[in-house]
Amino acid sequence: MPAMPSEDYTLGKHGARNCKMESGVRCDFLASRNRPFSEPLASKAKQTRDDRRRLQCWTLDMAESDSKGSARRRSHPSPDRRSFLMASVSTAAAPMLGRGSQADAATGQPPANVRKPTDLTLSINGREHHLAVDTRTSLLDLLREHLGLTGTKKGCDHGQCGACTVWIDGRRVLSCLTLAAVAQGHAITTIEGLARNGELHPMQQAFIDHDAFQCGYCTPGQIMSAIACVNEGHANSDADIREYMSGNLCRCAAYPNIVDAVKQARTVMKTASTE
Ligand code: FES
Ligand code: FES
Repeated sequence: MPAMPSEDYTLGKHGARNCKMESGVRCDFLASRNRPFSEPLASKAKQTRDDRRRLQCWTLDMAESDSKGSARRRSHPSPDRRSFLMASVSTAAAPMLGRGSQADAATGQPPANVRKPTDLTLSINGREHHLAVDTRTSLLDLLREHLGLTGTKKGCDHGQCGACTVWIDGRRVLSCLTLAAVAQGHAITTIEGLARNGELHPMQQAFIDHDAFQCGYCTPGQIMSAIACVNEGHANSDADIREYMSGNLCRCAAYPNIVDAVKQARTVMKTASTE
């Protein structure tokens, strides 16, 4: 990304509507962002409009600099998701690749290729799966694309929505931010693994009973999180449930019904555990 506009960043050279270039106004983008929140509403609204215009000019500038492929950007490429994953792989999958790398150093061979498929054995919902996948594959992609377990949803793919929640050894994790290679040797549970002998888990039943979903896209992640929330002992009050479920977003805003469902399932789960 190009640097944020500095204070002497001049606006309007792109001829955008309401552009201030002609009048020679200098950018006060950074200064305007630091204005106190106590300003009157009208003034804040105007500030927002001004900021939007400045941002528009900056965005156009970004596009322009992208198309030119400036030397500065070439020599200092910004980090993106691909480079982040590559960096993660080199850290998280180091034990897997380490032995090969040492051997390579000893034999003088080129280092192991991270693109080369790696053999993995994963225990998912009580079943072992043997696969050969790129070491950079996320657990979410492995579940959905390689095994067809599409109950786990991909929402943001950036660790922000919770739609991809699964359990590893009974603990909830975001599968979009977890490398499949790291989950080897651990017990993975997805929404498909909750029902027993055709009977729904009490939490699944409670979501149905309380209409705790509308489109249902977030629901598998909500249920996986909700069960973990009860097991963790974090479902003792409405406030607790809301707090410990706050990593799972619902665009349909079924939150009140979700809280009711968790409370119903909590009682059933506690009764079942004491029997
Ligand atoms: S898809 Fe993983 S948190 Fe959104
Ligand atoms: S039910 Fe639609 S996003 Fe939650």
